[in-house]
Amino acid sequence: MTSRTILLTGASRGLGRAMAERLLGNGHSLLLAARSREKAEAVCATLRAQDPASRVEPVVIELASLASIRDFAGSMSDRPIDVLYHCAGIMQQSRQRRTTVDGFEETLGVNVLAPMLLTNLLLPNLRRGKSPRIVCVGSRMHRPGLRGPDPHFDFEDPDLQRSYQHDLAYKNSKLALLWFVYELARRLPAHSIGVHAICPGFVPRTAADSVQGLMRFFMLYVLRWMPFATSVETAAKNLVDVAIRPELDGKTATYWEDGRCVESSVESRDAERARRFFDWASQRLGLSSW
Ligand SMILES: NC(=O)c1ccc[n+]([C@@H]2O[C@H](COP(=O)([O-])OP(=O)(O)OC[C@H]3O[C@@H](n4cnc5c(N)ncnc54)[C@H](OP(=O)(O)O)[C@@H]3O)[C@@H](O)[C@H]2O)c1
Repeated sequence: MTSRTILLTGASRGLGRAMAERLLGNGHSLLLAARSREKAEAVCATLRAQDPASRVEPVVIELASLASIRDFAGSMSDRPIDVLYHCAGIMQQSRQRRTTVDGFEETLGVNVLAPMLLTNLLLPNLRRGKSPRIVCVGSRMHRPGLRGPDPHFDFEDPDLQRSYQHDLAYKNSKLALLWFVYELARRLPAHSIGVHAICPGFVPRTAADSVQGLMRFFMLYVLRWMPFATSVETAAKNLVDVAIRPELDGKTATYWEDGRCVESSVESRDAERARRFFDWASQRLGLSSW
């Protein structure tokens, strides 16, 4: 298998961390991103202790800060990247609306706007990569009819300033992430850079890190053993597959759930809404070209 250079966000813990172990075990080179130098170096040190042959380099990207993303991208100069893997994501539990340092609603900022900016700035690096690919970790929660409120992305109030609900913010962010994936795939020249999205499944063991109290206990000791739950190992295998499977070379705009390529929701495939979101977000990020 060809060895790839992969920039992975969200690698400090959870699914990103599990992916890192798997990718390194398969001989790939990793730029392992965490939001602080201490975290990035600590994970790299542990991975190297497990396998001294690991080719892993710590990098710092705080996704709640556009300046941090720009600083990192600037430090990359013309280094090639084969795979840009956006795994980091948040699901707020606080009923209080929070914002990034740039004033975006935090879930939208970290889960969508940050990956958009990072992607835009690293397109030159990807163009120098081998069979380059961008992968975004989405969620089946972008679909209507599941637990909690249905996703409802209001272009008049994208930052949920009027009425904030943390689970709505999460669902909207994962819907908007798919709009980004499909619209970017339409805008990039055919057969240049593949853009894909994947839901890892419901993984209570890592999702438990975002919750506290009874819910955390319930996730770790009850939901984890339910038939609808996905193990960290299975999720990591499916996530890694989308980064490296050769059959995806030359393909773009695929969406994966439970290890299978499936159609995402009707709304996520609405090209007009995707274009509208992409233009709105590009403007918010100050991006004039793609
Ligand atoms: N677990 C599930 O059931 C499930 C289901 C569907 C989709 N997903 C998606 O899968 C991805 C990984 O989920 P997970 O379960 O592994 O979550 P997790 O255990 O909570 O890990 C989240 C990762 O994102 C990083 N992160 C959060 N905010 C950041 C920021 N501002 N800047 C940089 N990094 C930041 C975290 O870094 P720190 O260590 O610094 O906090 C951590 O490495 C997410 O996109 C999530 O939405 C998960």
